[in-house]
Amino acid sequence: MKTSITELEDSNPTAVSSRRDFTKRSIQALLTISLLDHLCSANLLAANAKLTAKQWLNEVNQIGVDIKGRKIKQVEWQAQIEDLLKNKIALPDLLKLIDFDRIAKTTKLVDNGARSIRPRFPKIEGAPDKLVFGKQIFALKKGRSVVPHGHNNMATAFLVLKGNFHGRHYDRVTDEKKHMIIKPTIDAKFGPGTGSSISDEKDNVHWFKAEDEPAFIFNIHVFGLNPGAGKRTSRVYIDPNGEKLDDGLIRARLIDSKEAHQRYG
Ligand SMILES: [Fe+2]
Repeated sequence: MKTSITELEDSNPTAVSSRRDFTKRSIQALLTISLLDHLCSANLLAANAKLTAKQWLNEVNQIGVDIKGRKIKQVEWQAQIEDLLKNKIALPDLLKLIDFDRIAKTTKLVDNGARSIRPRFPKIEGAPDKLVFGKQIFALKKGRSVVPHGHNNMATAFLVLKGNFHGRHYDRVTDEKKHMIIKPTIDAKFGPGTGSSISDEKDNVHWFKAEDEPAFIFNIHVFGLNPGAGKRTSRVYIDPNGEKLDDGLIRARLIDSKEAHQRYG
């Protein structure tokens, strides 16, 4: 008589028992993996959850209040504003919020440097009437730049809205009478939805060159972070192609806006 494998196994109680144990353990393991999987994706979803425009404006404003009131460090503001810009609002929603279509249609690009535009947010129920932060859009032709400059007494963040950019940042290590000692920190390609930030503490100098046309950057800034420091809120233009020093440092000459635009605009 032909005997099936199942029958043979069933005829051995030890084998049946260990097979059932194995099956039980396997199912438990699978359930554990599946539960972990579910929890992980739930966490990821929570981390990537987008805010409504009202929530987003409130959070951007709150960290502006916090950095001005020194409740958070400037580097913390940088981490939080980058998260809010890159992860907490979908790019199409941000474009809608600043009426980007109208701006893109009506902006006349300039032959040197960047055209600066002041976008307006619509009135949103529950969003702050008076915002502590400023906003701006830069529009550029291909090959033109937001020229290399550092900042005094302010923090700012960029988000690329359209086009690609070659973006560079430098730490402002030391101020000299006619130079700034800088250290390269970021040298990367930035496409739509990517960005970076600046403060008096980190990555203070930036330089963005458009690789497409038209190319647009959205910018959020908070002024007057160190009212007692004696430096008014301003840009400080430099020539980053300066004398190479030890440890990757560069002695960059302080220049004015005109020369910065002649050289790099
Ligand atoms: Fe800047």
